[in-house]
Amino acid sequence: MEFRSITPHLGAEVTGIDLAEPMGSNTFNALREGWLKWGVLVFRDQDLSRDQHVALGSKFGELHVHPMYKDQKEHPEILKVATNADSAYTAGDGWHTDVTCDEYPPMGSMLYVTETPACGGGDTLFADMYLAYELLSDKMKSILQGLTAVHDGALPYVGSYKSTPPEGGYPRHEHPVITSHPDTGKKVLYVNSGFTSHIKGLRPNESRALLDMLFRHIESTPKLVARVDWEPNTLAFWDNRCTQHHAVWDYYPESRYGERVSIVADTRPAA
Ligand code: SIN
Repeated sequence: MEFRSITPHLGAEVTGIDLAEPMGSNTFNALREGWLKWGVLVFRDQDLSRDQHVALGSKFGELHVHPMYKDQKEHPEILKVATNADSAYTAGDGWHTDVTCDEYPPMGSMLYVTETPACGGGDTLFADMYLAYELLSDKMKSILQGLTAVHDGALPYVGSYKSTPPEGGYPRHEHPVITSHPDTGKKVLYVNSGFTSHIKGLRPNESRALLDMLFRHIESTPKLVARVDWEPNTLAFWDNRCTQHHAVWDYYPESRYGERVSIVADTRPAA
């Protein structure tokens, strides 16, 4: 197995592995180490059935069931990412970290794209939230340290996707604005424009201004970003605890199709 970096700090293409094959502990450990190091791993030319995709994700932990698709009868752990000429939106078309409204947001996601638009496009941008933290001034780091933010599922699922909330509403949970990655110990800027509604203890205009400044920092710092260009049968596996991503919907009216599984974290995001 070989890792070829996409940028010096984020993302690597992995060759020399067939993800459909049984994986021994040496290979698993090397893969996990590479994933922790690079944040996003990209595997090309993979031929995976749904069961194999589910089995691969399950090696890393319990699979997540998305709050929007809890009632999906078959394979509730598979999230279909399907966009075509009839779509009103495409999933993930904005900077976000997956499902941070959950108490235990996914620690990682594996998106397997099998259909890409013939016109090109449909890339996914990933951003390095370790580096986003590091690039803040020491004064800003100390302002943010100790703050807590609210992450609200209604923001994307009702606000953007116009879905009807389930009984009791979508999940809404609090997480520290600066977290420590549970495996690497490195600090992470942990707010995202998809889910973070406000920072606790601040006046609404203060919270809005601080969040907008942080979201602009992410959007306007190209060196945070690794861009993944998909080919049919590519799987990307990202660490959801230290990255954000943004699906680019630049291919309308053409189609793109993929399926995602996410792995539930066994610890809550913590400072
Ligand atoms: C997502 O998981 O947010 C979708 C990403 C993509 O379709 O590229």
